[in-house]
Parts: sequence; structure tokens; C-alpha cells
Amino acid sequence: MTFDRSIKIAPSILASDFAAFGAECEAIEAQGADWVHVDVMDGHFVPNISFGAATCAAIRPHIRGVMDVHLMIAPIDPYIDGFVEAGADILTAHAEAGPHVHRTLQTIRGAGVKAGLALNPGTPAEAAEMLLDDIDLILVMTVNPGFGGQKFLASQVAKIRRLREMIGDRPVHLEIDGGIDPSTAPLVAEAGADVLVAGSAVFKHGSRDAPEGYGRAIREIRSAAEAARTR
Ligand code: DX5
Ligand code: ZN
Repeated sequence: MTFDRSIKIAPSILASDFAAFGAECEAIEAQGADWVHVDVMDGHFVPNISFGAATCAAIRPHIRGVMDVHLMIAPIDPYIDGFVEAGADILTAHAEAGPHVHRTLQTIRGAGVKAGLALNPGTPAEAAEMLLDDIDLILVMTVNPGFGGQKFLASQVAKIRRLREMIGDRPVHLEIDGGIDPSTAPLVAEAGADVLVAGSAVFKHGSRDAPEGYGRAIREIRSAAEAARTR
């Protein structure tokens, strides 16, 4: 993975057809997705259960590009090896998942995988301050984690702006997750985001048999974000 700050769209398969993950990953990549966002949920850190390392291993052969794994689990450390073996390119850990997030990020990087730090809406940007040289990505939650299709929390835009300043010229992506669509994408892109997760805003517009809708949605979100950057 080479680093650049161009706008990337990462559809979340949480909003896809659970009976066809492989075909859905192939469809969104063929329709222009830059990353595949995989929302792992354990029913403990978040009030929902989705899928785990076995699903990541099963979809890996169907993803040509980046498998961006968002770990909404606690504890994290006992499961890192399983997700590394499953072929994750990025493993993102929540700052709130336990008392030793620095060690978790070190373990992820030590396994040769990109390390991301996720911040819930109630967690201030300063939570990332001591970790900026230990991460490759910061994931700002613009919804409370656990479900797709929720309303975008505009309160997080100031946090995105603050994190963009804190990152400076470090090769650290600023990824936004929750309620991203063509109307909210410009807000976060203008504030400094470069990777936009979109679940329902992509998958509700098509299907694996009619994937053109996925492509239209991805292009609409991307162009809305890019237009905001030149403003
Ligand atoms: C929520 C997940 C998000 C969610 C995004 O816990 O982390 O990735 O799937 O879904 P939308 O884009 O529908 O808000
Ligand atoms: Zn996510």
C-alpha cells in the first residue's frame, strides 16, 4: 500500500447481501471502490454481531485491493493473529476497547499490517495525540458504532479538522465512518478527510446483479468530496 491523500471510497459490506459477500466485494471493486471496509462486531464492544476472521479469510480471494478491517471488538489482542492470517491489509482498533491501545497498535504493526486507531463520537481528538507515530490511519466515527444506516453526527466535523492539523505531513489516512453520502461527504472532505466509508449510501442503490447502481453511488460520493476540497 503506497500512501497518498487522494479521496478513497471504502464501501462497508455490513450493508451488502450477507448471502453473497464474495460476489459483493467483486462487484463494488469493479464499480470503482478503492477499499473494502469490513465491519467486525462482537456483540460486546457494540450491541450487534456481524462477522469475524473466518469471513475475512473467505472474502480475501475476492478482493483485489485493500481489505480495511474495522474491529469493533473488545478485547482485541487475542484475535489479531487470526485477522492477519485472514489477509487484512489494515486492522483498526478502537481507542475505547481496552486500557492498552498503544500495545495493540504495536502488535498490529509488528505483524506487518497497517494499524488504524478508531475514535467513537464521545472520544476527543486528543486521544490520538500520543499515538500519531504508531498509526497509519485514524478512523473517526460519525455515528455510534454497531449499525449501518444511522444519521451522520455533524458534531464530529470539528474533530476531523483538529485531527487533520495534528496529523500534519505524517503518512496517516483520515478515514470517516458513518452516515456518509453525497451530502455529508463534502463536509468531511473539506475538513480534511481522505478516506470515506459508505455502507447504505452505496449498497441501497444496486445489487450484485445490477451493480451499476453501486458505481453511480461511488462516483457521486467521490465527486462531491473532491469538489469540496477545491473550495
Ligand atoms: C458502524 C460501521 C460503519 C457502518 C457505515 O458501526 O462502523 O462502517 O457500516 O454504514 P453507513 O454508511 O450506512 O452509515
Ligand atoms: Zn466501520
